[in-house]
Amino acid sequence: ESSRLVVDDAFEVAPVNDRLFGSFVEHLGRCVYGGIYEPGHPGADDEGFRKDVIDLVRELGVTTIRYPGGNFVSGYRWEDGVGPKAERPRRLDLAWHSTETNQFGLHEMVKWLQAVGGNELMEAINLGTRGLESALDLLEYANIPGGTALSDRRRANGADMPFGIKMWCLGNEMDGPWQTGHKNAEDYGTLAASAAAGMRMIDPDVELVVCGSSHHAMDTFGAWEETVLEKTYESVDFVSCHAYYHPELRSDGTRDMASFLASGVDMDGFINDVAAVIDATKARLKSIHDVFISFDEWNVWYIDEEPSKSPEGIDNWPEAPKLLEDVYSVADAVVLGDLLITLLKNADRVHAASLAQLVNVIAPIMTEPNGPAWRQTIFYPFSLTAKYAKGGTVLEPKLSSGTYKTAQYGEVPLINSVAVRGSDNSVTVFVTNRSLDTSNDFEIRLPEGSGTFAVAQTLHEDDIFAANTCDEQQRVTPHNNESINLDSSSRTVHVTLPPVSWTAVH
Ligand code: AHR
Repeated sequence: ESSRLVVDDAFEVAPVNDRLFGSFVEHLGRCVYGGIYEPGHPGADDEGFRKDVIDLVRELGVTTIRYPGGNFVSGYRWEDGVGPKAERPRRLDLAWHSTETNQFGLHEMVKWLQAVGGNELMEAINLGTRGLESALDLLEYANIPGGTALSDRRRANGADMPFGIKMWCLGNEMDGPWQTGHKNAEDYGTLAASAAAGMRMIDPDVELVVCGSSHHAMDTFGAWEETVLEKTYESVDFVSCHAYYHPELRSDGTRDMASFLASGVDMDGFINDVAAVIDATKARLKSIHDVFISFDEWNVWYIDEEPSKSPEGIDNWPEAPKLLEDVYSVADAVVLGDLLITLLKNADRVHAASLAQLVNVIAPIMTEPNGPAWRQTIFYPFSLTAKYAKGGTVLEPKLSSGTYKTAQYGEVPLINSVAVRGSDNSVTVFVTNRSLDTSNDFEIRLPEGSGTFAVAQTLHEDDIFAANTCDEQQRVTPHNNESINLDSSSRTVHVTLPPVSWTAVH
């Protein structure tokens, strides 16, 4: 098989928004407790933040962090997580059938983000069990400099300066029947519109994300976006998309890897469909306002399998149980790289995204209690894409490749690829070979003025199910792809893409 990509600066998609490399920290399992926060760990700082995790978070290159949920936020009282730690209440977390100790809350999150490097906080409000008043209280607490009851409470709790939180999620997955306080589109749209209006009366500069669908395949998909956007269009800046992918288990015990490797096709369709509803709403309302997509939960997640089973029982509400601790394979990492390529290709519509999640829970970074932290396979395509694409401009991929048949998505391209013109004027091409068995001779025609030096890093193993574990932390890493060949006179690069592989050509 062979394929060809033409890179030309004349075809710009959009600048790469830094927020595309966001991630997500939820009070769920060991993401916060035992993940980013483990007082008593030999490598923890005075605040109880694990420094080994902070180092890996920096290396991963994540930007905005969405917090504190997820399903968790739909039952959360933010006040529980502020003030003296000894006085904070222990609460039931209905979403994950756990006990929330509240030893980590908003102030700790702000301090942790400062320790990482000043990353932006994207705060979610509870529109499940709560509503307008608690949203307004939280915004006053966070963003008003002082002189009112709640802003002075923040100062008394040790934060003299306001947190200045810009991005706010108006609830989480309110279309999902599993959500505490789940609503229909009419009721949610009305509530979100009033929350947005009230929040803007406090701080007109906030950027608001209204809940779209929890998945492309939701029964209410499309109609939900239509109703919710009709009610909120002028007062929000983003509509959210969430998507998780895993290879379907067939009745014979095998997995549909061919469809799984084409998950980017579904994500691309999802983005295009939501963009169509945004455009239709804008037209119907004769608006001059733009709404973008915040793809604020995306990843591979083996959602129906053992690690994702919540605890059960009236007397069984564990603190920070092991939950959703998926161990990612090479194939999972290739899909993750493919999804990132898809987000970049849609950088004109997708202005923010959050890899869900960050540590231990469906995460690129894993930790052992009292022990080491290490990188899962999915760490690498994310960190390399962030490294080369941040600050750059996405160029429209003029790509020709063969196709293959999938059970879920029909006939799909074998190759997915995008090019980014970097802030340092370099060009990086990200590419996946989705084929299960065939290498691909990939040709890149570079823009004028380039063609002096090229390197390629490829993530591939003959065993596509190979993974990194605490015992074997470096089993899977990207390798220099020695097949790369640059012909400067014709500005052409050739590189061989092994089957089931992700490559960055820089
Ligand atoms: O990321 C795990 C869960 O997935 C989140 O809590 C929820 O929003 C989604 O369904």
